[in-house]
Amino acid sequence: SVIRREDYQPPAWLVPEIALDFALGLDATHVTSKLSVRRNPDGNGSRTMRLNGDQLAPLAVRVDGQAVNDWRLDGPDLLLDLAGEAHEVEIETQLNPAANSQLMGLYASHGMLCTQCEAEGFRRIAFFPDRPDVLSTYRVRMSGDKAAFPILLSNGNCEATGESADGTHWAEWHDPWPKPCYLFALVAGDLVANHDSFTTRSGREVELNIWVRKGDESRTQHAMDSLKRSFRWDEQAFGREYDLDLFNIVAVSDFNMGAMENKGLNVFNTRYVLADPETATDSDYDAIEGVIGHEYFHNWSGNRVTCRDWFQLSLKEGFTVLRDQMFSADMGSPAVKRIEDVRVLRAAQFPEDSGPLAHPIRPDSYQEISNFYTATIYNKGAEVIRMMRTMAGPERFRAGTDLYFDRNDGTAATCEDFVRAIEDGAGLDLKQFRLWYSQSGTPQVTVTTQHSGDTFTLKLTQLVPPTPNHDGGAQPEKQPMPIPLKLALFDRETGTHRGEELLVLDQAEQSFSFAGYASAPVLSINRGFSAPVAIDFERPVEDLVFLAAHDDDAFARYEAMQSLVVRHLIAAVSSNLAEEARTAEREAIVQALRSILLDEALDDLMRGELLILPAEGYLAEQFLVADPSAIHAEREALKAWLGTKLRGDLEALHDRVSAVPYSRDAAARGARKLKTQALTYLAAGAPDEARRRAIAQYCAADNMTDRQGALMVLAGLDGPERGEALADFHGRYAGNALVIDKWFSLQAGSLHPKVLEHAKALAEHPDFTMNNPNRVRALYMALAVNPQAFHAPSGEGYRIIGDLIRRLDPINPQTAARFVPSLGRWRRIEPARAALMRAELERIAAEPSLSKDVLEQVTKSLG
Ligand code: ARG
Ligand code: ZN
Repeated sequence: SVIRREDYQPPAWLVPEIALDFALGLDATHVTSKLSVRRNPDGNGSRTMRLNGDQLAPLAVRVDGQAVNDWRLDGPDLLLDLAGEAHEVEIETQLNPAANSQLMGLYASHGMLCTQCEAEGFRRIAFFPDRPDVLSTYRVRMSGDKAAFPILLSNGNCEATGESADGTHWAEWHDPWPKPCYLFALVAGDLVANHDSFTTRSGREVELNIWVRKGDESRTQHAMDSLKRSFRWDEQAFGREYDLDLFNIVAVSDFNMGAMENKGLNVFNTRYVLADPETATDSDYDAIEGVIGHEYFHNWSGNRVTCRDWFQLSLKEGFTVLRDQMFSADMGSPAVKRIEDVRVLRAAQFPEDSGPLAHPIRPDSYQEISNFYTATIYNKGAEVIRMMRTMAGPERFRAGTDLYFDRNDGTAATCEDFVRAIEDGAGLDLKQFRLWYSQSGTPQVTVTTQHSGDTFTLKLTQLVPPTPNHDGGAQPEKQPMPIPLKLALFDRETGTHRGEELLVLDQAEQSFSFAGYASAPVLSINRGFSAPVAIDFERPVEDLVFLAAHDDDAFARYEAMQSLVVRHLIAAVSSNLAEEARTAEREAIVQALRSILLDEALDDLMRGELLILPAEGYLAEQFLVADPSAIHAEREALKAWLGTKLRGDLEALHDRVSAVPYSRDAAARGARKLKTQALTYLAAGAPDEARRRAIAQYCAADNMTDRQGALMVLAGLDGPERGEALADFHGRYAGNALVIDKWFSLQAGSLHPKVLEHAKALAEHPDFTMNNPNRVRALYMALAVNPQAFHAPSGEGYRIIGDLIRRLDPINPQTAARFVPSLGRWRRIEPARAALMRAELERIAAEPSLSKDVLEQVTKSLG
């Protein structure tokens, strides 16, 4: 059951039009689909039409109006032999949405009906060629009980509605834009909308609606504002205008992913829609803006130009992530946004690239496509396109994307089509650059420098590491790739440089010389994180301290600070640091952090970035085989040291930022970010002081950022206040699912030594349910990414996650499979734990009827 990219065949039959009729009911929905099918002139001429199904039974099959019975089933699919050129195929099926716990296809959530079809959910609704290169125009009729489903929505425009005497009503929708079935959507429920409108640059007036359950409408304004900003931004930044008179968003609380870009009817996880200051943190606000933008931008990068097959997923996802990153950068602080995006890439994608599930951004094979909605496809995919933009410059890149949209509008395209359009439109030669699409693994770039006379020489080498390859697609030898590196050479005395340069390393080994430097400059390299690589550069601590204080590239400054800490912790963990050296290095970090705390030229949002210590996961990545306990202990000890040595500065900081009143502007958001960071350091170095301040912050809080931050600190400390604060929080927000999710995560993600006991108790809490993916993630994902809990030496963390996967798989395989990669890291963890992790994977593998989703991840992880 391995699907290979090289096996792509165009479909034998096309479906230019489809009419769907739904008789809606929560536990019985009757579906009639009428497909106008036409032989594909570019197909192989086969008479057989494959109509994919998944747990569907055909109740009736008609061809050109006549009932037929010469169809056959091939596993879940229905095969039909058709002569001639064109036919009308009509099939009836019956669904039980209430029993659909996978949340793929048509399912029920709090009395409402909704759909999720990407990637292969449409085949759970109707027999259809469920592949993205079959594009159809959709006509949808739905009818149902008016009291239960007062609102009836689908893609495109509503063309007619009516009522019947029996209490049912109906609506007919028509979407004029041909689309693959993964973009189909239907929603029926008791919903209320925040209504608004947007006038496009050519004067089209678009009705905007954000649909939510009653009572939630007061928390939709930020999403609506973000939506209008997205419409405007895409016109200005990419010349892309909206193409229907209506744009609907529906918020659903049971949803496997973040959101879905269905044409004209985006469906969102409530967590990326609902916000107000009392219940959403500043990060929640940012995430909502980013995801609203992302789904809206898909209207062009994904919908108008879609994917030929799922191997091309990064064509729409990598590009759309880049677009949402650029949007968020333009709406806020570009410097802070870039740092955050790199942090996400390093935390989520680098481990993927160096683990058993490594795959190129355009994979060669898969078993279950749901497993390929990964940080590699999304985030590394965005970095690869960002590199093209860096090499071309913004104007030429824009010419390239204009050409891409022009050439491919209305078609199902490939990554190759994208690269070719950028080559032609931006005037780049990307022949060698295409390796970024086919080779997996994070390239390692080693830097050495030399200064003699007045010449500074940089020697760079690159290595693309071998990655495990499954399904026979081995790539033992990798080729050097073009790596665009932005750099600057700083004068040590003046703290200035002569301008940024871009060089492209495209060989295994290359030297670059810079004349006119009487004294050795300080090298700032991979500025702005111009390439998604790991830089290995042995350099004096003074140079890092210099850059941490002076670099005018925000990312490079952050990076210098990170490197200072990373190299210290690596040395400390590897225990080749004498006590005296350890103290000296810690003092250097104290000095660097103090100057960041006191630097008046820094805004607080950026100051907050510079204060973040490298994550334990990222530190573990620096070792071939990591000892999570040692990393945790050293990192905590450093934090305590910083908290003690900087106590006065941190208290002064906490006092200063606590005086800033709540607002959504950057200064106030920066203040809130620092408020909790100050508490975090104090909690490590001066816990009593931190407790006192956290209680005060909790009680004074008039917003969720402050309240959650204070509670997080209290949850990690012992004492009666811990339980009191947690109980207060739970009582205060009872009934608000998104806030109760925070209550679960914060405890499962806590530094408290009894975190595993707490997590086990939370799994028994009446508010916990396996049926809601947000709740499952709130408890178990928080635990899986909490190193001291997950990597408890007893193996209990592994056991809890292993048990979860086995229990969740029969309910929701897609979400269950998302937990496998944490156990899959075993080869990179010290032997005792590695054995426990492996044993857990084997226990899962031994389950009698695993889903394809979990089976693929577990077998690949065991290797
Ligand atoms: N296309 C959606 C997005 O990126 C994600 C949908 C993923 N769905 C899935 N079943 N894996 O916005
Ligand atoms: Zn997307």
